Amino acid sequence: MTTASAPGKVILFGEHAVVYGQPALAAPVTQVQATATLTPLPPSPTGRGGRSEGIWIDARDVGRHYRLEDASSDDPLAAAIRLTFAHFNLPITDDSLRMTLESTIPIASGLGSGAAVCTALVRALANYLNHPMTNAEVSSIVFETEKLLHGTPSGIDNTVIAYGQPVYFVKGQSPIPFNVAHPFQLLIADTGLPSPTKITVGDVRAAREKEPERYEQMFRAIGDIAREARTLIEIGQTPGARFAETLGALMSCNHALLQQLGVSCPELDILAECARAAGAAGAKLSGGGRGGNMLALVTPETESAVRAALEMAGAKRVIGTVVSE
Ligand code: PMV
Repeated sequence: MTTASAPGKVILFGEHAVVYGQPALAAPVTQVQATATLTPLPPSPTGRGGRSEGIWIDARDVGRHYRLEDASSDDPLAAAIRLTFAHFNLPITDDSLRMTLESTIPIASGLGSGAAVCTALVRALANYLNHPMTNAEVSSIVFETEKLLHGTPSGIDNTVIAYGQPVYFVKGQSPIPFNVAHPFQLLIADTGLPSPTKITVGDVRAAREKEPERYEQMFRAIGDIAREARTLIEIGQTPGARFAETLGALMSCNHALLQQLGVSCPELDILAECARAAGAAGAKLSGGGRGGNMLALVTPETESAVRAALEMAGAKRVIGTVVSE
């Protein structure tokens, strides 16, 4: 049996603008995980092959169990398997295998569940084939599967999840892991509204076509915030309360720009407002938007009041995480 896991992720700054070349910051969330387990199946007793032979994909969280050879060409899990064999110039194995995927990452909620499941699968398969892969190799295969899920992904999800560390990301460039001078604490609150990234990304694209100058200006403003946040997090020149205040203000500005892009929704705005009112230093939606998750920057002093406020305001689940190196 071979197993591999991959974390969820949050985008700290820069979602949507990153699709148009602006920088973004993202960090892994190890409190939620996707796991792939490869189990060799016994050969058919007749030796002639049977229905149970071949590669079986058992995607538990979505209740799907099917053979690789029956999967369509746009199935991301099947693509992850085929691309991994192709990466090593190997034919798809004749071994009979069950590939079981399990995940505690909520689906379509901006925490990178699709990329995490594919990352775990590629790693488990590479290990099974005795060809461990670098983070960059895993990331580039998962990027191909992300295209099937999202259409025109920037590549940030596969990057932060495959590297498993905070990254400063610009589309088409090698990711830069960033230092975190002062670890900081986030609460990740789920609206419970699934929101496929493909739709919000497509809507932003259509809106940008109508008003290119206005949208480019907003993307540039988001990029400036991401750059400023990176410097602040890396240098941490304003430790303690002032660090949180400054970083929180950047998060709230980023949220306001995402509202103007048209990717927030009343549920996200309510969670962000309640978090700030309860003492969070800042709050913003994270990921594609119009549902999914919201991030609130907290300190050990404010965490429990903010968590209680988010639960009262209707958050379906609140996950605490610390961003550190
Ligand atoms: O997969 P999500 O929902 O976390 O969103 C990804 C971030 C976007 O910038 C909206 C899209 C992308 O490909 O970068």
